[in-house]
Amino acid sequence: MLAYLKSAKLDYYNFGEFLLSKVDVDGIARAGVEGNFDLYRDNYHLLSFEDLKRINQVWVAKYPDQHFYDSSFVIEAFRKIVSNLGRDDIQVVELGGFDGSLAFQVLQHFPDATWLNLEIGEHMPAPGLDGFQYKEQVLTDHLWECKPNIDGRDVFVSGDTLEHFPDDQFQKVIDYVTENRVSYLVLKIPISDKGQDWRGCFGSHLLRMGRNQVKKVLVKRYVLVMEKRRYGLVRLAQKLLHGDVTADWCSMWMIK
Ligand SMILES: C[S@@+](CC[C@H](N)C(=O)[O-])C[C@H]1O[C@@H](n2cnc3c(N)ncnc32)[C@H](O)[C@@H]1O
Repeated sequence: MLAYLKSAKLDYYNFGEFLLSKVDVDGIARAGVEGNFDLYRDNYHLLSFEDLKRINQVWVAKYPDQHFYDSSFVIEAFRKIVSNLGRDDIQVVELGGFDGSLAFQVLQHFPDATWLNLEIGEHMPAPGLDGFQYKEQVLTDHLWECKPNIDGRDVFVSGDTLEHFPDDQFQKVIDYVTENRVSYLVLKIPISDKGQDWRGCFGSHLLRMGRNQVKKVLVKRYVLVMEKRRYGLVRLAQKLLHGDVTADWCSMWMIK
């Protein structure tokens, strides 16, 4: 019933306490604050975008440091892109850029670039962004539903965000980017090679695909230009013991 109402895009909150009690959004948010993200994973497909926004807001307040970017990889990728395109006024669209801190790091090297940060939540822009062509757009629904105008953007950047989508929605993000003919992807995704279900893991990760499967999805439309795998000391030790562990994976792709 709830799934039907969601797919029919009806506001099920108007149907009263009974239906509200089916998805305890505040309970899910609270569990995350206490470090349990399995309740979120188990109920994710029942949550509306508004629910996700509310949960995200609670979690950002609890975990305010959301900076995970690898600016040196992005800058190296941008150098290649500028060189390939023969111009430096590149148009960037980022998904989940938080407060634009990565944008600030990169725009200092490419001051003629334009940067659009598509976010689920509203953020105070990182200091220094004023002098650049940077804009945050708060999404009203998932990318593939609210369809922000990204046509003609040269680069899609996303770091530590795509693993927050389940596999089917990851595919929808990539489809939307591809339909809009975005020429380059610069991604950072912390995943293992073969993938995992994240059960018991700290953090709201959902993507079950590992690096091998994600590559299979991306190579249909894009060519891998470069990639980097970064293991901390603990991860490296785990890798030696267990073989396949989660580690930061940066990659750059060019449209076929
Ligand atoms: C782990 S943080 C990474 C922030 C930044 N990219 C970095 O690496 O420093 C994930 C970001 O994705 C955003 N996010 C999560 N789900 C999203 C969605 N469905 N659409 C857009 N942004 C989303 C969050 O608000 C948050 O800023």
